[in-house]
Parts: sequence; structure tokens; C-alpha cells
Amino acid sequence: MNILGLSFYYHDSSAALVKDGVLVAAAEEERFSRLKHDSGFPELAIEFVLKTAGLTIHDVDYVVFYEKPFVKFERMLISAMSTFPRSAAVFRESMQRWISDKLWIKSMMSKRIGISSSKILFADHHMSHAASSFFTSHFEESAILTVDGAGEWSTATMGVGRGNKIEIIKELRFPHSLGLLYSAFTAYCGFEINEGEYKLMGMHPYGTPRFTDKIYEMIDVAEDGSIWHDMKYFAYHYSRDSTLTDAFGEHLGRPARDPKLGDKSLDPFYCDMAASIQVVTEEILLKMITYLHKETGLENLCLAGGVALNSVANYKLLVRGPFEDIYVHPAPGDDGGAVGAAYWAYNHLLDQPRGPALGTAHLGSEYSDEEIQAFLDKHDIAYEKIEDDEEFFDYVARALADGKVCGWFRGRFEWGPRALGSRSIIADPRKPEMKEKLNAKIKFREAFRPFAPSVLEEAAPEFFDFDAPTNGTQQYPARFMLYVTPVREDKRSVLPAITHEDGSGRLQTVVKETNPGYHRMIERFGELTGVPVIMNTSFNLKGEPIVEHPSHAFNTFSLSGMDLLFMNNYVVHEKAKKKIAETKFVLRHEGDTITELVS
Ligand SMILES: [Fe+2]
Repeated sequence: MNILGLSFYYHDSSAALVKDGVLVAAAEEERFSRLKHDSGFPELAIEFVLKTAGLTIHDVDYVVFYEKPFVKFERMLISAMSTFPRSAAVFRESMQRWISDKLWIKSMMSKRIGISSSKILFADHHMSHAASSFFTSHFEESAILTVDGAGEWSTATMGVGRGNKIEIIKELRFPHSLGLLYSAFTAYCGFEINEGEYKLMGMHPYGTPRFTDKIYEMIDVAEDGSIWHDMKYFAYHYSRDSTLTDAFGEHLGRPARDPKLGDKSLDPFYCDMAASIQVVTEEILLKMITYLHKETGLENLCLAGGVALNSVANYKLLVRGPFEDIYVHPAPGDDGGAVGAAYWAYNHLLDQPRGPALGTAHLGSEYSDEEIQAFLDKHDIAYEKIEDDEEFFDYVARALADGKVCGWFRGRFEWGPRALGSRSIIADPRKPEMKEKLNAKIKFREAFRPFAPSVLEEAAPEFFDFDAPTNGTQQYPARFMLYVTPVREDKRSVLPAITHEDGSGRLQTVVKETNPGYHRMIERFGELTGVPVIMNTSFNLKGEPIVEHPSHAFNTFSLSGMDLLFMNNYVVHEKAKKKIAETKFVLRHEGDTITELVS
């Protein structure tokens, strides 16, 4: 049975294909369209997942959309009516969009995909989140917590997964929302919502949480973690342009930080605010899971929803919370809704048996040696190929140890927002200057942004305060870079480029079975240096989607300060850099040294 799951019209449009219970392919549209957070119909992603599964649309049994448009519309309508006339502008605008587009998704999908509308199903937004996590987890039975900005009405749900069924037992409803509270602080600190949440999280170790009491004055929190906002501080329920009211800044002591100030420097006041909202978020989540544990008596927890991207909180929930093991899907945000919708239909609705646990995020496209070589030859790019794998990995490890910053393009690209060793920029974490070099010359981004380490799973406990799969746990979130753990104190000076301000690191544990080439290269680096850890950041420039095709990789390499580019076993040196035009690559960038490339 073949199920196509889709998520679109909000942000990060995606497609996923579940074939007889196995997730065979999943990808965000932005990788192909080259539009960051592309929210349009995921035409290219659909084409990709079908091709990968060896199917045409005629082989698909059901297409499942990740939410229920009419219920969401009802929520928007009721919110707009209850806040009229303040909501008049947003009401007009969203009516136009909903009535022309969003409400008629079924007939639009039927036409664009070429499938009978009787084969199109709709899952509930938070059920899609819950299903994305539970049905791809290794748990036969688990408690489930989903927390995001807002779905239809729900903004958080608690549930239980058993075998092939999920039951939602409790929900928190719009406009009260932990995700929207975090986003409100993202906006308050001068970052863009749905984009800047990572920056806020990355900024928190630079501040002290001295505003937690002030934040708690703006909300009520119950023992089960339910929250009620004092709506005089918030505007998101009636405004499209602003999330906060003036009262928000008045209450906290300063107005919202002007986003135009950019994000290159850190203002201590807003760093303290980032630290405060991080603590409040963790405390509320901890209340939620403590309650959920008590109610269900279960040992395992599946997390999903955009808030589960808060990898700092995830690890604290593991350490301080009551659950033995936690699973988070590699794409816990709305992109992951495509996977969840497909699994909800397959397992829950159609009563099919569970498939295998998802131990890997490598679900995207890949390129063969022939394709890479054809690309290099076509553009007269000088290269060498190191045929022997051992020799190649040794070459890469030595280049890293020698201080080279390298592009690494190998295997199927990653599902979800994190680069996990298929489309990565890599460097030596032992060199303190690497953080600055990568931020300034390669990523063209804020100096405070931390970099993540990729560590062999078997070596993780030596460098991080983290039990790699032991105590009966699988620690999948660390495979997907969804835990921030302390770097062991004696290793902080060994790993200065990946140790964050507060001594933590957002580790990715690398597993031999799912990413053998990346694993062996890091292992070789460890043999040479005694440190089987490398620095890993996504292969893109600031504001760009992660690279998908060799042309994106080569152009990113050419436009940045990278020293070497590895695509499969091909090596491209710095002197081969040049500008090439290639379809599907659009680089519109304002950075100092980046120029318009192709359109
Ligand atoms: Fe969501």
C-alpha cells in the first residue's frame, strides 16, 4: 500500500511517501525550489518521492493532507470575529487567501496531482505531529506530547500511542500556546518568527534568566502545564503584522528590539530575555510531561511539534523528566506533518501493522559518481577522484586536521532542518579560530551562533555528558541533532570550536549503519588526532536552503571561503572556484562578499 503525505500552505511544504509502512522518501520543497521555507504546493518534492519509490501517481492508494482546512478556517473566522474591529485588515486579507485557495485544497490537489478526490484524506494537524513521532519511533507503546504555535484549534496535545493506534487525551487550544509565546519573544528580541527561534535558543547562554517572574505575570500556568495568556500583551490573534502589543514591551521594561538592527551584536538585555523565556519554556514543558507521565504510567515519550526543535529543552526533559527514553522525529515541525499524515492513515485509519523504527534521516535525493562527474566535466571544473575509500577518508581527515574548511556532499540528503553528514560543511573542532572563520567567511552570519559537533556514537560518552544507547534507551534524538548536552568538563578545552558559551554542545551521534562514509571519515580523523569529533554545519549560506544538487554545492563553495569541496570521492580544490549558471539555483543574498549569481 502506497501513501503520499503532504504538508503545504503554511511554511516548509513537504512530501513523504510511505510504502507498506516504510518511509522510503521525504523532502521539503525548498531543497528543490530553492526558496527558503517554501510554502507553495510541493510539486517538486512530490515528483522526487514518487520517483524514489519507483511509483507514479496511479500507484498511490491515498494522498493525505496534514491538517483540516475547514476546521482551521473556522478557528480563523471565530478569532477574527471575536476581535473585530481590530482584526478587520487581517480578516479581509486572509478571507481572500482562504476563499481563493486554501479552502478548496481537495479539488486543487486532485487536479494538480491527477488523482481522484475519493483518494484524498485529511488528518488533524496535531494528530499528524503525534503520528510523525510515534509511528516512526521504536516504541510499541508511548506517551505523546505535541506542542507548536497552532494547528486547527489545538496548540498542544497529550496522547497515548499503542501499537497502530493513537488516542489524544487532552489538548490546549488557541490562542493559548507555548509555541506562540516563544515566537512572541523571538519577535520581541528582534528576530523573524518561524526563522529566528534558533537564534533565540542559541543566544540564551549569553544571558541570565532574570525576567522569569515578569514572564509568569503575563501567563497563568496550571499544574498540568496548561497555559492561559493574558491577551492584552499579544496581537497574533487579530493581526497579521504584529505578534505583540505595546503593553508587552511596557511590561518587560523596553520596547521590542528593532529587527533592522540586524543580529551581528548581542544586547545583554535581550540575551537575558532569551535566557528567561528558555527557562520558562523548559519549566512548562516539564510540567506537561510530569503530568502526562502520571496520567499514563508509561515509560517512553514521543515529542513533536515545532517546540520539539528546542534541543536545549529536549535534553533537559530527558535528564530532569520522569520518562526513561524520548523519541523525536527528525522533522518535528510542520514539514514532518507530511510523514505523520501518511502514517496516521496507514496505521491508525487503515489499521495496517507498524513498520520499522526510523533510525535515519537520510531520506532525500542522492547523486551517483557518474552524475557528479558529468556535472564537473560539463562546467570544466578541475577535480581529482580518489577511487579507494580508505585513501579518500584519510585525505579528508588530514585536510581537516590541517585546518581546512570543507564542503561534504555524499549520500541522500537529510529530512528535517538539520544537516547530518550528507550536505554538511565540516572543520576541525579543536581549533578555536574555526567558529569565527565559519561564521564570518563561510556562513556569513552572526558571530554568536554556535556550531554543532558530529561524534561517533560509540565515542559520545567520552566527550559529552551523554549515555549513548545504554540503559535500554536508543537516544534517537541525538542522531538527529535534537539534544544539546554538556561537553565533559575536561574536553571543553579540547573542543573549543563546538563548545557553546555555557559548556554545552548540540551533538549529533554518527551511526555506522546509517551513514557509513561519514562515520568512517570521522573515525579516521579520530585515529589521526585522538578526537573522533568534527565540526558540522549545514551546507548553505545564510538565508539559503541547504544544497540539494552538485551545482548548489559547487556554487556555495565558490561563493564562500571554503578550502575544499568533496562530492562523493571527488575532490575540488579552491583554485577551481568559479561562477557557473545552473538551473534551479537562485542566490539572492545581501552579504558583504556575495553577489547575485543566477536567476
Ligand atoms: Fe504544527
